[in-house]
Amino acid sequence: MSKIYFPAQAKYIESFRKKEDELILEMESYAKEHKIPILSWQAAELMEQLVLIKDPKRVLEIGTAIGYTTIRIARSLSKKAEVHTIEMSADNIPIARESFEKSGLTKKIKLFEGNALSIMPQLQKKYDFIFLDADKEDYKRLFDYSMILLKKGGVIVIDNLLWQGYVATTRIPKKYKNSTNFIREFNRIFTSQENLVTTILPVGDGLGIGIKK
Ligand SMILES: C[S@@+](CC[C@H](N)C(=O)[O-])C[C@H]1O[C@@H](n2cnc3c(N)ncnc32)[C@H](O)[C@@H]1O
Repeated sequence: MSKIYFPAQAKYIESFRKKEDELILEMESYAKEHKIPILSWQAAELMEQLVLIKDPKRVLEIGTAIGYTTIRIARSLSKKAEVHTIEMSADNIPIARESFEKSGLTKKIKLFEGNALSIMPQLQKKYDFIFLDADKEDYKRLFDYSMILLKKGGVIVIDNLLWQGYVATTRIPKKYKNSTNFIREFNRIFTSQENLVTTILPVGDGLGIGIKK
């Protein structure tokens, strides 16, 4: 998202973007056209790198939307690994399922339909990589469940921690005031976890990365 970069630098970085898969580009256009928030392509590239480094066997994504990042994670996983993803929007679920079919990666992806706040407490097995990208007012509770489900040495990635830059400014449009306060409070909690090594990177809309000690 350009609001946390200088436009010239953003354009410069973009000039190095490699030729991308047709489906991925199609999904980016669809999300833009229908105003569906998905991870920025820059943050998605970093996500794929983290997945490649960690080589997780079980990944959990909270907030599938149309399945953009799910597919990018799934294509970076090794043979027997899989990504579980949770989505509650009846509008987004069929679009995500269709994209998964098109991607040819359905064997690696399991979609849970419903509210993550109800689904996560029922999950039995732990994960070695978690991506949290859901409603901001629920971040704290979803993060608490994530910490229970994250294995020792596991990686948690959280999107939108710079919230278009609003967390670091006093000039916040009225409709972003509440969400900005949620993210500010969340960042305080996230970065002060004793059992996590954390950082917030100015990539995309601000990506939080934590490694469980
Ligand atoms: C930012 S979008 C996810 C984008 C996706 N991770 C990507 O990068 O392609 C957030 C999605 O989370 C879903 N969501 C929000 N809160 C949720 C919850 N508590 N349980 C399940 N889904 C949730 C919304 O319906 C929305 O589709």
